[in-house]
Amino acid sequence: CRVLVLISGNGSNLQAIMDQALPKAPYQVVGVISNKADAYGLVRARAAGIASHYVMVNPEESRADYDLRLSEAIEQLQPDLIVLAGFMRILSDELVKAYQGRMINIHPSLLPKFTGLHTHQRAIEAGEQEHGASVHFVTPTLDAGPVILQAKVPVFDDDTVELLAERVHEQEHAILPLVVKWFAEGRLKMLDGKAWLDNQPL
Ligand code: GRF
Repeated sequence: CRVLVLISGNGSNLQAIMDQALPKAPYQVVGVISNKADAYGLVRARAAGIASHYVMVNPEESRADYDLRLSEAIEQLQPDLIVLAGFMRILSDELVKAYQGRMINIHPSLLPKFTGLHTHQRAIEAGEQEHGASVHFVTPTLDAGPVILQAKVPVFDDDTVELLAERVHEQEHAILPLVVKWFAEGRLKMLDGKAWLDNQPL
């Protein structure tokens, strides 16, 4: 299974996926694409000998035009699965539809709670006692595609955004590679707007 990872930043989730791929996972990371030139994930990819591409954002260009260039970069790598791992750009419906069922995202909240940004802060402010991360199939509505796997963490009374984010991150590094492995093993599908594992709806 050819896995392509899209990033914008540190790339610790990318690292977790690459680390699992090393011995004999049923997939290979065939490329990494970033919309940020200084994303540390690009350094990680190079260190692992994986093709890395920076698709520059031109502020004057429309989303459709950017996504066209992004699609070209994606197509060259012929991925079976695209993983959005901290890719901080909304993709156009067209691009999402072209890869529906073959594109997953990691989101730092227990979806459907806290879609969008600043999820850790919002979870603390809302007085949540539990928070976490979700891996879901990507559909045109932001952070609303069918959830595949979630991991929960406690929120403590004296929590800070940093501590909570760290706790969530650790879980992300466990669940995202696991979902990639399921997909590569052919066990995971998106059908009728739902995620299915081993022919059972999730
Ligand atoms: C993760 O928390 C992910 O859920 C969010 O962006 C962060 C990316 O972290 N959308 P990293 O770049 O994988 O370290």
